[in-house]
Amino acid sequence: MERRKFIQTVGTAAAVTPILGSFSAIASNSVGSSEHTFPELPYAYDALEPYIDAQTMELHYSKHHKGYFTKFMAEAEGTDLMDTPMEKIFASISKQSVGIRNNGGGYYNHTLYWENMTPKHTAIPSKLKEALDKNFGSVDAFKEQFGKAAKTHFGSGWAWLIVDKNGKLQVTDTLNQDNPLMDVVSVNGTPLLAIDVWEHAYYLKYQNKRADYVDNFWNIVNWDVVNHRLSKA
Ligand SMILES: [Fe+2]
Repeated sequence: MERRKFIQTVGTAAAVTPILGSFSAIASNSVGSSEHTFPELPYAYDALEPYIDAQTMELHYSKHHKGYFTKFMAEAEGTDLMDTPMEKIFASISKQSVGIRNNGGGYYNHTLYWENMTPKHTAIPSKLKEALDKNFGSVDAFKEQFGKAAKTHFGSGWAWLIVDKNGKLQVTDTLNQDNPLMDVVSVNGTPLLAIDVWEHAYYLKYQNKRADYVDNFWNIVNWDVVNHRLSKA
């Protein structure tokens, strides 16, 4: 419930004026259970142009993300997972099926990814900047490390900024649809910023130039969301 409220809050706070045609189509996709919801996008498919093209966004959201959610719900149906928060499921994901791990991760990770992007320019809040300076030396040094993780990750997966249980900020990357909340990955923590480096996230526009997609990502990061996640962690 809290996540859904947060998504709505972020969407409202962003004050995005959606392009009605496409946004209406998106809104009709919002379905789920009391615990698990397929979220609305907080912006229109073409809102992140020119950095992420509308066709990629539409396919990514309405096919890939929706597919992960639908498959997760189908496998969770009739089990206590339907009423269990994703964070709790991930904490013992090693005890779950491959389907729950892959589709639950895909459902959750994409929600984080949509939330941490915005068509509106946001400045880095001072508290977040201080944390980045303290942990990485500077914001530029953080971007360099995060960008390197995203550009060099081999195969499909994600790069992350996380805060670990000791309050330390770290950059990490995960395979497939794994994430840093899962008990099967080597570096655990709460996700603050996520970038999808599966080819479906960028290939239509960037083809083999993943580095250009990663460099352009900085134009659309929602730093207010990253800061909010840090304050809640
Ligand atoms: Fe994806």
